[in-house]
Amino acid sequence: MSLKNKHILLGITGGIAAYKCAHLVRLLIKEGAIVKVIMTKASEEFVTAKTLSVLSKNEVVTDFFDANNNWNNHVALAEWADAIIVAPLTANTLAKFASGHCDNIVSACYLSARSKVFVAPAMDLDMYQHPTTKQNIDTLRKNGNIVIAAESGELASGLVGEGRMAEPENIIHFISQYFEDNLPLSGKKVLVNAGPTYEAIDPVRFIGNRSSGKMGVAIADEFAKLGADVTLVLGPSHEVPNEKLVTIVKVESSEEMYKACELVFKNVDIAVLAAAVADYKPKSIADSKIKKKDSELFLELTKTTDILETLGKQKKHQLLVGFALETDNVLEYAKAKIAKKNLDFIVANSAIEKGAGFGVDTNKVTIIDKHNKMYNFELKSKQAVAKDIVTFAINYLKTDA
Ligand code: CTP
Repeated sequence: MSLKNKHILLGITGGIAAYKCAHLVRLLIKEGAIVKVIMTKASEEFVTAKTLSVLSKNEVVTDFFDANNNWNNHVALAEWADAIIVAPLTANTLAKFASGHCDNIVSACYLSARSKVFVAPAMDLDMYQHPTTKQNIDTLRKNGNIVIAAESGELASGLVGEGRMAEPENIIHFISQYFEDNLPLSGKKVLVNAGPTYEAIDPVRFIGNRSSGKMGVAIADEFAKLGADVTLVLGPSHEVPNEKLVTIVKVESSEEMYKACELVFKNVDIAVLAAAVADYKPKSIADSKIKKKDSELFLELTKTTDILETLGKQKKHQLLVGFALETDNVLEYAKAKIAKKNLDFIVANSAIEKGAGFGVDTNKVTIIDKHNKMYNFELKSKQAVAKDIVTFAINYLKTDA
C-alpha cells in the first residue's frame, strides 16, 4: 500500500532535524503523496522554504499572511489534509499542542485538524525525558494524535540517547501502515462491471453501444483505494484502472460478462453493476462474413440475460447496486428497477442531460435507495461521482444493510 494521492500536510518546527524534512518530502512524493508544507519561523533557520517548495511542488506556507498580505487559510489547509505530520516536533510546539496555544500557522493547522495528526518529536536527551515532556506527549496521545517515538542515537548536543527524530523512512513506513490498517474497506470483496458489450453479428461485425467504461472504472479505483479487494469485469473499453490492486477480467459479449460476474458474485460483499450491457443480441452469429446482397437485411435479435436481475435473485448477504441510464422519466424508471432487480440502491443518470452519461468525463447522478429515498448530487467529474457512490455504499453498509 502506498501513499498514492494522499494529501499530506507536513508541519515543520524549529529543531535541527528539520533539515531531514527535505528528504522526508522527497520520500512522500516518491510514494505518490500530494504534499503541502507549513513551517514555523524557527524552522526556517534549519531548512529553507524554497527547498521544500521545489521538492513538494507546492508553495510553502510560513505565516498567516503571505508576502502580498493574502490570508493563508489554515482551516482550508487542515481540511485539505488526509493526514498531518508534524516533524520534527520540538518541546516548545509539543507544549503548545498540549495546551491549545495557537500563535503560528503550524499550531493553527493542528487545532483545525480533521484528519489524523502524526507527530515525530525531536529534542535533546534530558528534554525528552523531562516529566513535563512526557505528560505533554501523553496528552497528545489522549487527544487522538499518533506519536512516532523519537529514536536513540547520537544527538546534536553530542549526548547519546533517545531524542532523535524518527528517520524519514521510518516515518513513511509508519504512516503507510496506518493508512493500510485503517482503510474502511480492508478485507471487503467487491465486484464492479463496466463498459459496453459487443454482440457479434458475424466474425467482423457486432452490435455495441457508446459506453466508455469511465464511470465503472472510476468506481473500481475508488473501492480499491479504500482497501477493498476489487474484481473489475470490463467490457471492450480503453479505460484502465489506476489502482494496481484491481483484478481485471476482460470480456466482450454480454454472455461472457454474465458468466464472469456470476462466478465472482457469490464471494463478494458489494457488487456495483455499472456496465452498459446489451439488452438484445443476434439470435445466431454467422460463421463467415455476411455478404452484401439485397437492399434490406433483417437481423433477428433475442434478449440477453439481465445480469443484474439474475444476481438480484441470487443475492444473500451482498450489497447490490445498479445503474439506470435513461433518456426520459429517469427517476420513475430507476425506482421500478430497484424493485424488479432486488437492489439496495440505484444510481440514476440521464443519457441526454449536458455533462452526464456516456462518453463525457463528468456525470450528474441521483442515488435512490430501496426505501425510495432520493439523494441528488451536483454535476462533477466521474472520479468525484465514484467517490460519492462508494461513500454512500460504506454508509449504507453501516446503517441499512
Ligand atoms: N443490466 C444488466 N444486464 C442487462 C441489462 C442491464 O446487468 N442485460 C444492468 C445494468 O448494468 C444496470 C441496470 O441493469 O446496472 C439497468 O440498466 P438499464 O440499461 O438502465 O436498464 P434495463 O434493465 O436494460 O432496462 P431498459 O433498457 O428498458 O431501461
